[in-house]
Amino acid sequence: MPAITSSTCRLVVLISGRGSNMQTIVNTVREQGLPAQVCAVIANKADALGLHWAREQGIQATLVAHRDYATRKEFDQALAQAIDAHRPDYVLLAGFMRVLTPEFVEHFNGRLLNIHPSLLPAFPGLHTHEQALAAGVQWHGCTVHFVTPVLDHGPIVAQGAVPVLADDTPDTLAERILGVEHHLYAQVVRWLAEGRVSLDAMQRVHVHGVASRSFAVAPPESPWITTSKN
Ligand code: GRF
Repeated sequence: MPAITSSTCRLVVLISGRGSNMQTIVNTVREQGLPAQVCAVIANKADALGLHWAREQGIQATLVAHRDYATRKEFDQALAQAIDAHRPDYVLLAGFMRVLTPEFVEHFNGRLLNIHPSLLPAFPGLHTHEQALAAGVQWHGCTVHFVTPVLDHGPIVAQGAVPVLADDTPDTLAERILGVEHHLYAQVVRWLAEGRVSLDAMQRVHVHGVASRSFAVAPPESPWITTSKN
């Protein structure tokens, strides 16, 4: 866990497109008066809609376009430099659609988090909703995790589950999960800002004072099973 040196947890958010998770993070920090600040939003694509929204909010929003660099390594070096200028405690990938080099991941080791639209370790990579429907799973969801050099893999901070319904399409599933993504990332940002999150030597996540890090949308017409300790 990074030692948060000031009382404000400094966050840099990386996006590639719409930026609805980023918007939720910004709004959560502001509306809930968290001891955190979104110092910058950085996108790798010029047409990322989230850049405009962030600028309208008075947040420093910059473009580091991957197309301007000959190699993945050069892009990642430029990106790391742009991020480091803001001295972040945490870097949050929020719909950032680039595979990162091991050097980049190592540079931000323990400070780099991502949200992925599946219940990892199921369905890493792209087209997770198509993968879930093809597999016939009855629960799908999203995961906030620390980033390791392995794509869509790493210590899990929190997960949110949704039921898969009989007439679901990739689009309806994506929409149901996006609502949970916003809830989940907002919750994780609260924990980060409060300094509750740590990684142990086994690379397992601990969130101090929090008993459960799972969230779920109830299936329609399906009674919940309740358990008793007795
Ligand atoms: C989210 O579903 C995220 O999990 C995935 O891409 C989508 C980005 O949405 N990687 P947004 O840009 O945050 O609106």
